[in-house]
Amino acid sequence: MTTTVDNTAPTMTYKDSAAPISARVSDLLSRMTLAEKFGQMTQIEKNSISEDIISELGIGSILSGGGGNPSPNTPENWRAMVQAFQKAAAESRLGIPLLYGSDAVHGHNNVHSATIFPHNIGLGATNDTALLEEIGRATALETAATSVRWNFAPAVSIARDIRWGRSYESYGQDPDLVAKLGAAYLKGAQGESLQDNTTVVGSVKHFVGDGGTTWGTTGRYEWISDWWKSDGERWMIDQGDCLDDEETLRNVHLVPYIAALEAGARNIMVSYNSWDGIRMHGQKYMLTDVLKGELGFSGFLVTDWLGINQLAADFYDAVVMGINAGIDMVMVPFQHTLFIKTMTEAVVNGDIPVSRVDDAVSRILHIKFELGLFDRDYMDTPSLDYIGCAEHRELAGRAVQQSAVLLKNDDALPISAEGKTILVAGAGADDIGMQCGGWTIEWQGKTGPITAGQTLLSGLVAQLPKSARMTYAADGVFDGDTKADLGIVVVSELPYAEGEGDKSDLSFSADEVALIERVRAHCEKLIVVLYSGRPRLVTDQLDQMDALVAAWLPGSQAGALASVLLGEVPFTGTLSFAWPRTMDQVPYAADHDFLWPIGFGLT
Ligand code: BGC
Ligand code: BGC
Repeated sequence: MTTTVDNTAPTMTYKDSAAPISARVSDLLSRMTLAEKFGQMTQIEKNSISEDIISELGIGSILSGGGGNPSPNTPENWRAMVQAFQKAAAESRLGIPLLYGSDAVHGHNNVHSATIFPHNIGLGATNDTALLEEIGRATALETAATSVRWNFAPAVSIARDIRWGRSYESYGQDPDLVAKLGAAYLKGAQGESLQDNTTVVGSVKHFVGDGGTTWGTTGRYEWISDWWKSDGERWMIDQGDCLDDEETLRNVHLVPYIAALEAGARNIMVSYNSWDGIRMHGQKYMLTDVLKGELGFSGFLVTDWLGINQLAADFYDAVVMGINAGIDMVMVPFQHTLFIKTMTEAVVNGDIPVSRVDDAVSRILHIKFELGLFDRDYMDTPSLDYIGCAEHRELAGRAVQQSAVLLKNDDALPISAEGKTILVAGAGADDIGMQCGGWTIEWQGKTGPITAGQTLLSGLVAQLPKSARMTYAADGVFDGDTKADLGIVVVSELPYAEGEGDKSDLSFSADEVALIERVRAHCEKLIVVLYSGRPRLVTDQLDQMDALVAAWLPGSQAGALASVLLGEVPFTGTLSFAWPRTMDQVPYAADHDFLWPIGFGLT
């Protein structure tokens, strides 16, 4: 199996920026060996690769997964890391540039001191397409400043079951809302033209039905690791089986993809979930017939992390099934040697046609040309000063304010603070990591001062009038005879991501109930601010609260909430998720008598 390649031709069309992209793609393809084609189809996790392998094998892509950070984690080191890989790619035989990808799912969130926007569930509550476009743009700028031109966002998941640990990655439960916000974000991220080096190509994910899975159906893949082993709580619904019929799949979960395609989607990530028992990574009908055929998607499909491995215990069978189903690039993420060897065998054996390989590689190369990667010096990037800049933090603050949903208010808000005594409680009131949630610095997120930002407590300190007296105790323990005008309790989930956040019961814990009761005993009016990646059950505690604000996972600029509590900025957020009274109302069904329906929000 040798391919003869003639690189001595006097004009190399692929290097000619004036030539049409399709001509450049076919010219380049004609110069590539099969091995180089397999290299382009390979995406490796950044810690699993050395620079010489990139040039030797002509690797197509590298990613930073959740927490895939350089050490120390600074914007400068991020850029230097990506550019060192890019330099190695430039030294490969054909000099095909790399596409470097990362999950900038709420800002360029792996990077220390980047602006962290509210998670998608909060952005859903803003119902504001112009805002989403601005956030897509700002995130792209911060991402591109580190030389990363591919963002694994937006997630256009429609979370039907809020026990799912990824509910917060979903803009909402209404397909049309998710469609319009996802498309707006993508437009902002991709700009007028991908040739502009301040843009990134988005990855619309996870195709398709990720939010429609059934509790208890998470796949078990002993041959990969025992990682997804569940304790009856974690990994119970994430990566599970979507049992919807085709009509429902199309009318619900497919809707945002159609909008994303109209908005210029060039990359889509395949989902871990199964559809009717077969994993999406092997669903040729959905990937090739529907998405690439019927819907005319001409970009490329990337797998999820180890996604192809889940198709079969035998890696050869898994690769054959996945690539023939329509996968173009494989997030291996570690086994590049095995993947390339397997591809070689499968093509020699005739189990994967060369035409499928050529199609996959053409799609990948096409996007690289669209991004202008061949025509611009990889050192040429937007300024690192964009990262965490004042303008982006102001935008994030606005998003925080617009995402807050006022669920109950018996004359407690806005706070008239002049001369008042105020007690503040709850660790979340002063913890950057808790307000940011998962996918922040680390994959699972982390409590504590993990990055730069402003907490609600510091926002209040900055904004309360001098005549107000505020006391903070994280545990809500105040002197016995303290009697304050007002108590503010922040009830906050601890950070989590993916199946680690699957949870069967979303009621308040005994500790959370006790925290509310302790503060209640010391104040006239009690305001509860909830930080969570999904609605929590508040039915039994609601009587104790004079006001309740759902603030979701606000990100680095939670201090901006203070202006809303003080009435300087109005409440405008509305629920994009239905709020259940009991766990019996989960998963979502249109006919439930919810505590608060989609669209609810006091002003
Ligand atoms: C997640 C994706 C993510 C990928 C890379 C996977 O576990 O499901 O959403 O883009 O990892 O970090
Ligand atoms: C990575 C994530 C990835 C996850 C999937 C983690 O180790 O950091 O990016 O999504 O594994 O299993």
